[in-house]
Amino acid sequence: MLERQGRVEAALEGVLPGVEHAPSQLHSAMRYAVLGGGKRVRPLLAYAAGELVGADPRRVDLVASSVELIHAYSLVHDDLPCMDDDRLRRGKPTVHVEYDDATALLVGDSLHSLAFQVLTENALASDATRQLQMAATLARAAGSRGMAGGQAIDLQSVGKRLSVPELEFMHVHKTGALIRASVQLGAMCADSAGAVDLELLDRFGKVAGLGFQLVDDVLDAAASTATLGKTAGKDASDNKPTYVTVLGVERSRKLAIELYDEALAVLEQLPHGGGRLGDIARFIFHREF
Ligand code: IPE
Ligand code: IPE
Ligand code: MG
Ligand code: MG
Ligand code: MG
Repeated sequence: MLERQGRVEAALEGVLPGVEHAPSQLHSAMRYAVLGGGKRVRPLLAYAAGELVGADPRRVDLVASSVELIHAYSLVHDDLPCMDDDRLRRGKPTVHVEYDDATALLVGDSLHSLAFQVLTENALASDATRQLQMAATLARAAGSRGMAGGQAIDLQSVGKRLSVPELEFMHVHKTGALIRASVQLGAMCADSAGAVDLELLDRFGKVAGLGFQLVDDVLDAAASTATLGKTAGKDASDNKPTYVTVLGVERSRKLAIELYDEALAVLEQLPHGGGRLGDIARFIFHREF
């Protein structure tokens, strides 16, 4: 994990404009939002999926960076006063606190564009059609039928009681879509999937994506601000429906174990038992931060 986290850090460093370029403050805030923090789970998934299908890791560096740029933008906007109004992220003041609201808005805009710039101005597939599909995959995952749509449902749901299927729908969109796309994009970096069943890989991505947000809900209720690097107990104080409010902590933890087993059962059907995807699944479902 450390090796891959270092690798994507270097790739991100390489694609983010330096502060010597105008507008310096915006570039400084973009770098503040992206560099030197985060678990880099989405890049890790892209590397692991890429490795399984024999993709060139130099292609995966760029795909992993593009997904992480979208993720970082989603966090900057998620923290804005008009959304979750959070002041702490990755153990530091959020972008709008460190800079200001307008800068945070523009950081999100710019990271979003940069993600697609990275995906399209480098050769990431031997076939141009394949590379267009990669850009489309990220666009769908980030948009109104993916992450942004899930975020809209999240905001509309404040103070409401959701059923488990409604909660699952929200989670697979706001968080699941980008996790799923990370696995897909990593695998798409190889010209041929070889013996790997891409449908199975995608089933893994779906389960891992839902599980990631389920665990995030549990940690919000059960972990400390110090270990999370973001304000604990925020979902309850914002009156957000989560797996914890719907099922309680214990049943949510049980569901996480069931989803982990489901993810492992999918991986067992892949070559090498899914390779490093199994390690990342263990991390996703058993993490404490
Ligand atoms: C936090 O994501 C927001 C969710 C989608 C749950 P992460 O837990 O991956 O945040 P970082 O990137 O490690 O800070
Ligand atoms: C955020 O979900 C999902 C995103 C798309 C950013 P949360 O609002 O639960 O994420 P945290 O807990 O603030 O990281
Ligand atoms: Mg939120
Ligand atoms: Mg939030
Ligand atoms: Mg949360």
